[in-house]
Amino acid sequence: MSDTEKLQEEALTAIVGADSLDALETLRVGYIGKQGSISGLMKTLGKMTPEEKQVQGPLLNGLRSAVADAIAAKKSELETDALNAQLASEKLDMSLPAPDAPHGSIHPVSQVMEELAEIFADMGFAVAEGPEIEDDWRNFSALNIPETHPARAMHDTFYFPDKDAEGRDMLLRTHTSPVQIRTMTTQEPPIRIIAPGRTFRSDSDATHTPMFHQVEGLVIDKDIHLGHLKWTLETFLKAYFEREDIHLRLRPSYFPFTEPSAEVDAWYTLEKGRRVLGGHPDDANEGGWMELLGSGMVHPKVIANCGLDPDVWQGFAFGCGIDRLAMLKYGMDDLRAFFDGDLRWINHYGFDALDVPTLSKGVGA
Ligand code: PHE
Repeated sequence: MSDTEKLQEEALTAIVGADSLDALETLRVGYIGKQGSISGLMKTLGKMTPEEKQVQGPLLNGLRSAVADAIAAKKSELETDALNAQLASEKLDMSLPAPDAPHGSIHPVSQVMEELAEIFADMGFAVAEGPEIEDDWRNFSALNIPETHPARAMHDTFYFPDKDAEGRDMLLRTHTSPVQIRTMTTQEPPIRIIAPGRTFRSDSDATHTPMFHQVEGLVIDKDIHLGHLKWTLETFLKAYFEREDIHLRLRPSYFPFTEPSAEVDAWYTLEKGRRVLGGHPDDANEGGWMELLGSGMVHPKVIANCGLDPDVWQGFAFGCGIDRLAMLKYGMDDLRAFFDGDLRWINHYGFDALDVPTLSKGVGA
């Protein structure tokens, strides 16, 4: 056997036996790399006589390409092996049961907002929104609460130090009523909206938090009267509390932005020491009237402030605390716990994220 043949046999044996890509690379460098042994032999061609070259040239070139081919073949074999090993280690058993997915739950306030949207959508109301940072024109002046009005002081308003671009005082809205203004100044009547959202007053005890939630209702159309207001509220409360025996009392009251104004009370009875809406004042039961919300016919000045003709358009509005609605329906007794962020509370009172309230199923059931 010639030297070339011996070298070739030795190289091919080593290449076939290489057990990793690293080992194969070491062999490649050793044989056909710049300083490799076969490369060294190739360099000797230059010093040979033409006759020697004629014999050695094809031999050495054959050796070199045999080794290079063997390395390429081995390389692709090792790469395939590595891919197969990786695929095998990443195999998923599709027949295994799914692991417990981490899940959160829906806060009762969000749940009640969904329920309200569902109930009022059924009566043809759209959901409107406004910003939590308001200007004092929309929060007060346009609602017929002038600067000197005692209602401004009553609201315990959080003001910002700076004014907006139009020179108006900026504040955290004290009620959702500014959404009435935003809606009437941007939409053509007839209007039927509810506006749920956050509201803020500098007030804090067991039944008051500085941030709380309200839902505003607004209807603007022709020939609207108090009867429409009462029917709407009754229909809403019956659907929300899922009982027919809801009885309301409209008690004369005062709000600058409604005339006449009415506080709406609902009859409650005691069930296991808890106040539950329902029953009738004429029934022999232990109960009483509970104040639920403020309402009234939208003041003509408010309608005019929004650029509408109060001789053509009338309507009613109401504002109701959402947190109270949630407490009454789902039986929580401390408002502050709503906003403590305690996981035990939300795990107990929260709702399944996939359980979307619908009227047909019974909202919140
Ligand atoms: N904005 C009033 C409040 O926060 C409630 C209300 C709304 C009253 C609409 C009448 C009409 O107390």
